[in-house]
Amino acid sequence: MGAVVVVGTHWGDEAKGKFVDLIGQDADVVIRYGGGPNAGHTVIVGENTYKFHLIPSGILNPKTLCIMADGMVIDPATLVKEMESLTERGISLDNLRISQNAHVILPYHAKLDKLEEIAKGGAALGTTGRGVGPCYVDKAARLGIRMGDLVNLTRLREKLKAVLPHKNALLTKIYDSEPFDQETLLAELTPLAEKLAPYVTDTQALAGEAQTSGKRILFEGAQATLLDIDGGTYPYVTSSHPISGGATIGTGIPPTAIGQVLGVVKAYTTRVGAGTFPTELLDEKGDRIRERGHEYGTTTGRPRRCGWLDTVALRYSVRVNGLTGICVGHLDVLAGFDKVQICVAYRKNGVRLTEFPAGDVSLLDGCEPEYEILPGWQDVDITNITRFEDLPVNARAYVHRVAEIAGVPAVLVSIGPRRDQTLVPPGIPAPRHLFHVASGVPVVPANVV
Ligand code: IMP
Repeated sequence: MGAVVVVGTHWGDEAKGKFVDLIGQDADVVIRYGGGPNAGHTVIVGENTYKFHLIPSGILNPKTLCIMADGMVIDPATLVKEMESLTERGISLDNLRISQNAHVILPYHAKLDKLEEIAKGGAALGTTGRGVGPCYVDKAARLGIRMGDLVNLTRLREKLKAVLPHKNALLTKIYDSEPFDQETLLAELTPLAEKLAPYVTDTQALAGEAQTSGKRILFEGAQATLLDIDGGTYPYVTSSHPISGGATIGTGIPPTAIGQVLGVVKAYTTRVGAGTFPTELLDEKGDRIRERGHEYGTTTGRPRRCGWLDTVALRYSVRVNGLTGICVGHLDVLAGFDKVQICVAYRKNGVRLTEFPAGDVSLLDGCEPEYEILPGWQDVDITNITRFEDLPVNARAYVHRVAEIAGVPAVLVSIGPRRDQTLVPPGIPAPRHLFHVASGVPVVPANVV
């Protein structure tokens, strides 16, 4: 049984949560492998809307084991709040497991995140301010406090005693800010640790056992390819590995266990935070996409920058993630444009770039997008269509063209946030069969789509 990984193809906010929820209905285990409360996944089931920052969307399925794995950074206060809001709504947390190796975001991380951004001035990254970067810094510097430490109060006290002087020196001497008091921090953390303790365990062992016993495993990516710390548009990236490779680094499951890698791509492209965005639309077309697509951050409420679909970046994403299929989302948002544009290359100083310059992203600065222009489809409500074949012909042609450029099939198409607003193109197996497709093989040959 091949595990399935779901990743975002561009700069995040591709609505991965919806696809993870859908595919996850047939998964035995859903594992979130990286990132922290910087993520925001919205899942709509019937009349209910659920917003997740930390807990895998798979928690909505009572049969699915949900793992928050080693690669994550966890803010205990946010997690407890998220858990409480789920239990208030009758969602059981019995299947939730938290890695003892996941790192804890402490209040000083969030404070440093904000102070560092202010200090950077015009070069600020536009982080979510949740302390994610500083927490991963501590992980790499071997100064981190992990979930296993948090739930052992003697160990937590020892660790804080060792690390807090460093953090306070940074806060007071570099940033001229207030220090944290160890006892106050411990008093804040103790009730949170008590609530989380029953869920903290060796998730590597659990995941490994699930894999060797042939369970259907779904990896839930957070953030997205171009935000990857190594493969993304550095320095305008997050501090983890959202690409498919992160699924194995962040969980202990080997790469050979992965069967399918699905990339969630919006029918257009968005970005939050700073950094070059070649297809950004700074006109009323961009505003229109933002309003129709409700392109405001789930985590921060920030308006997202919107633009035409960048397939140079998409092809890079196919390569670096080893995508075997794409899930095309937000197709309904593009309805009503006379023409729709797909960026197929960049031009800079008279030179045509057809490959994403991941090795030197400064080459993106000042790039002009080269567009292929396709006919749009009428401003009709396509959100209630139930068969791919019933979409307007130009909408289908758009999906076909995107898949053709990507070189992998479109396996799912989303026309709205609800589960039932998802179409399966002809020739593609239903999501539940994705776990049975042979390892690393596209779900169907691209030309069938
Ligand atoms: P951080 O992850 O909060 O450190 O932010 C670093 C960069 O990644 C900023 O540009 C954020 O806007 C971006 N980012 C982080 N998480 C997400 C996400 O879930 N969606 C979109 N952008 C994100």
